[in-house]
Amino acid sequence: MQIIDGKRVSEKLKEKIKQETVSWIHKGGKKPHLCAILVGNDGASHTYVAAKMKDCESIGFTSSIYRFDETITEEELLKTIREINANPDIDGLIVQLPLPKHISVDKVTQTISPEKDVDGFHPQNVGRLSIGLPTYISATPYGIMQLFDYYNIDTVGKHCVVLGRSNIVGTPVSILMSRNTTPGNATVTLCHSKTQNLENYTRNADIIIAAIGIPEFVKAHMIKPGAVVIDVGITRIKDPSKKSGYRLVGDVAYDEVAPLCSYITPVPGGVGPMTRIGLLMNTLKSARKEIYSGKI
Ligand code: GUN
Repeated sequence: MQIIDGKRVSEKLKEKIKQETVSWIHKGGKKPHLCAILVGNDGASHTYVAAKMKDCESIGFTSSIYRFDETITEEELLKTIREINANPDIDGLIVQLPLPKHISVDKVTQTISPEKDVDGFHPQNVGRLSIGLPTYISATPYGIMQLFDYYNIDTVGKHCVVLGRSNIVGTPVSILMSRNTTPGNATVTLCHSKTQNLENYTRNADIIIAAIGIPEFVKAHMIKPGAVVIDVGITRIKDPSKKSGYRLVGDVAYDEVAPLCSYITPVPGGVGPMTRIGLLMNTLKSARKEIYSGKI
């Protein structure tokens, strides 16, 4: 059994993006600029955005944050997004989720220019993903594909079972795994809360990607020996023995499942650190005008 070290891979990829950025700027290219919009006082969102901005600075990008009180109206927010869309200095824009209830996530997502949508959430970019056109792949699916690539895990013709059909993980990763690419070319089964006899699928899976958000849902009896298990879950469980007061738990019962696997991602330190890499890669792609070059 090999533990997939997402922290180490993410550091290597960050270094690679940094080198690519240096050479792009050296050739006269524009310094990539990522802008984040943060609404309200959600503690986790503040932490995530601060981490994303720190990544930018560490690899030579410009970063900026627009902070708004949670009372901002939807129209004011959409107006700001349109202004950023029109600002040629900004290459990538993310609006950190969740948003206050009075603001429509769909309207926000669809107002961000597809050219600057480095989260890859705009319907145009999701549509491009589904038909195999160049696009911004959202951060978590991108990170998972990079792990398969880095560890040379053979996915061709394998049975990949994805647990969870969310727009930001399950659905896009199922599309990526079934595409005619490497990694990819897997036979994909997408399972969800209405799937019957789930174990019949997981027990026949060469690869399981668990993204349902239920701590320790995947147990040893659900696994085929030798399977590759990718755990996307990350739930905070109260734990008074920890300094922080909580511990992070994945969707997989790691201690009982790990001995059965050929590869497994731990939580923390597996998929988590990889999810910030895609955003950086997409911002560089935007600065280099790689996706919307006018050709397609
Ligand atoms: N909130 C949690 N994850 C994400 C993400 O990947 N992008 C944005 N914009 N908000 C999030």
